[in-house]
Amino acid sequence: MSNPKIWFVTGASQGLGLTLVKRLLREGHHVAATSRKQASLVQAVGTTSFAFLPLQVDLADEASVRQGIEQAINTFGRLDVVVNNAGYGIGGSIEELTDAETRQAFDVNVFGGLNVIRQVLPYMRKAQAGHILNISSIAGITPATGWAIYAATKFAVEGFSEALAQDVAPFGIKVTAVAPGAFRTNFLTPESLVFAQQPLEAYQAVRASHEKYLAMNGAQAGDPEKAAAAIMQVASESNPPVHLLLGQDAYQRATQKLETFGREMQAWQPLTVSTEFAE
Ligand SMILES: NC(=O)c1ccc[n+]([C@@H]2O[C@H](COP(=O)([O-])OP(=O)(O)OC[C@H]3O[C@@H](n4cnc5c(N)ncnc54)[C@H](OP(=O)(O)O)[C@@H]3O)[C@@H](O)[C@H]2O)c1
Repeated sequence: MSNPKIWFVTGASQGLGLTLVKRLLREGHHVAATSRKQASLVQAVGTTSFAFLPLQVDLADEASVRQGIEQAINTFGRLDVVVNNAGYGIGGSIEELTDAETRQAFDVNVFGGLNVIRQVLPYMRKAQAGHILNISSIAGITPATGWAIYAATKFAVEGFSEALAQDVAPFGIKVTAVAPGAFRTNFLTPESLVFAQQPLEAYQAVRASHEKYLAMNGAQAGDPEKAAAAIMQVASESNPPVHLLLGQDAYQRATQKLETFGREMQAWQPLTVSTEFAE
């Protein structure tokens, strides 16, 4: 490998994170990776290479995140690419999900990434270099029935990534929000997905949507190996995009969203522009 980089990947014991870590190591990069369970991570990655640093990190706890990043810096000297990948799907209408269930999803999907970004930026600013990739979802651009809180967490990721890209551009740091469509990982399994503990009979369309997604498990069109390759490609670009969609389904859904949004904007333009002082 002519240009090995130092990567930091969260949520790496399975799925997209694991696929990315294995591919990075195969291609000669150095990787610090986090998991809730270090033993599972070590076993899943299956190497004792000096290029791999497995870390047990609680992403919702900033002190734990700080420790993990310090360990990575002490081991490899710097971090070139950070991938905020850890996350899970949470199903249920807003009325069905409790405050605790809702906050837990934000703790992992949003605050976990923010903790990592806050702790890594001092090093990247000092180096005047770095690339932060935040794994969002097509649900963070166009939500589906029954997944309001999941969509809210991923909209947050899309939103803060876009502003962050502007804030840190003067320091030579790049930011990309990566929005996958459906990929064949453990994402849609009962082990990864969380559903409202107190479902309400009235929300039949929500239940039907959940059934539809659960039935997709194992048959998603997206190949995690190709997603990992795309993430590596975008990290090697000198001018990477702020938003990257992954998968034909993501591309189609985003296109449809833009068209619908555009039509609605136009249809309501007279009312929209009617609100200024008549000076
Ligand atoms: N697969 C898809 O169709 C799809 C589509 C759009 C977006 N995404 C996003 O892609 C990312 C990776 O998901 P995946 O598809 O690889 O799913 P996965 O196979 O279920 O893996 C998810 C990873 O996130 C971490 N994670 C899950 N729940 C967590 C929790 N409560 N606290 C801390 N970490 C947790 C896990 O890390 P450890 O077990 O190692 O701690 C796990 O390795 C997620 O952010 C997901 O939202 C996936």
